[in-house]
Amino acid sequence: MKALVTGGTGFVGSHLVERLSKQGYEVMVLTRKPELSQFFKKNNIHMYSGDLRNKSSLLDIPGHLDYVFHLAATRDSSGKTECYDTNVEGTKNLLEVLCEKRIKLKKFIHVSSLGAAGFGRNGKPKREEDALNPCSFYGETKMQAEKEVIKKKKNIPFVILRPCKIYGPGDKKILLHFKFVKYGIVPDLGLKTRFMSLCYVGDFIEAMILASKSSVTDEIYFVSDNKIYSWEQFYSTIAAVLHKKLRTIYIPQAIMSCFLPLLWIISRLPQPFVSIEPTTVSEIQSRDWTCDPSKYFREFRYNPRVGIEDGLKNTAQWFVENNFI
Ligand SMILES: NC(=O)c1ccc[n+]([C@@H]2O[C@H](COP(=O)([O-])OP(=O)(O)OC[C@H]3O[C@@H](n4cnc5c(N)ncnc54)[C@H](OP(=O)(O)O)[C@@H]3O)[C@@H](O)[C@H]2O)c1
Repeated sequence: MKALVTGGTGFVGSHLVERLSKQGYEVMVLTRKPELSQFFKKNNIHMYSGDLRNKSSLLDIPGHLDYVFHLAATRDSSGKTECYDTNVEGTKNLLEVLCEKRIKLKKFIHVSSLGAAGFGRNGKPKREEDALNPCSFYGETKMQAEKEVIKKKKNIPFVILRPCKIYGPGDKKILLHFKFVKYGIVPDLGLKTRFMSLCYVGDFIEAMILASKSSVTDEIYFVSDNKIYSWEQFYSTIAAVLHKKLRTIYIPQAIMSCFLPLLWIISRLPQPFVSIEPTTVSEIQSRDWTCDPSKYFREFRYNPRVGIEDGLKNTAQWFVENNFI
């Protein structure tokens, strides 16, 4: 089986590439910097140089493929043009090239985001039938990218997955929270009253592969581990994993509104203490950063294996081994 993975050098994509390769797929990885991708030097993994924003750079994509897993995206809403050009125009360029080359795909797995749909409301996790209400510019671009995929459904059978927050080894976007706990300064923004969905990266990889192999096409699914976590539970699990006592500092909402953007500015410094994006700020501040994955669970008999304790433990281990904490 031949699979093209865009975003295969990123956090989620690199786990997918490893898994597909182990399962015997011939894997093509699209990247803007193939020279930096030494760790993929394996027989059945091929690196392709290309930039989604530049359609002509995608023309080297092989003419025969069974699957495309489209994960490449940028979340940085500060560079709006880059975000739009990559997530929306980039998706459109990729689909056009696949059509122009008349590639007969078994499935195009499009990795969207809960951000494309927006927050849950009043304690109700977001469901597929709810109106889309993206909560950031990034979310808007992910929503528009979904529309590009749907437009091409006559030629390209697709499944769109909207994962919640994915976490696990290699996830630098979650580092901020580990640092908070490590240095004993967890800001209490109402930790008990704000909720989120989570999905361990290994389980999300399984979800993508299941969706690719199934006969289902032209459907959209939320994916999570089917639990809802309070931020307090999240932080206390990190504290347990790091053997730290959870100490929270109450920060009034008005101050919080300045504090998170300040962290974002700090994260732009040459040697940042944290990595945080405007999208992350809105996620942390929302009350229901949650989705309901029951449609996915029903149709794919999906069985996530890694719970939050083991998942955060594996993540912490990776941070320690790589000198992040
Ligand atoms: N991580 C999460 O919690 C989460 C949650 C919901 C949805 N998602 C979605 O999951 C996907 C993967 O997320 P991630 O966290 O793994 O992302 P990531 O670590 O930030 O990786 C982004 C990837 O996109 C590629 N990319 C960016 N711009 C590109 C361009 N112009 N042309 C070609 N490739 C480009 C990068 O490749 P090069 O730099 O090698 O070119 C990189 O491999 C994204 O679609 C994201 O929206 C992630």
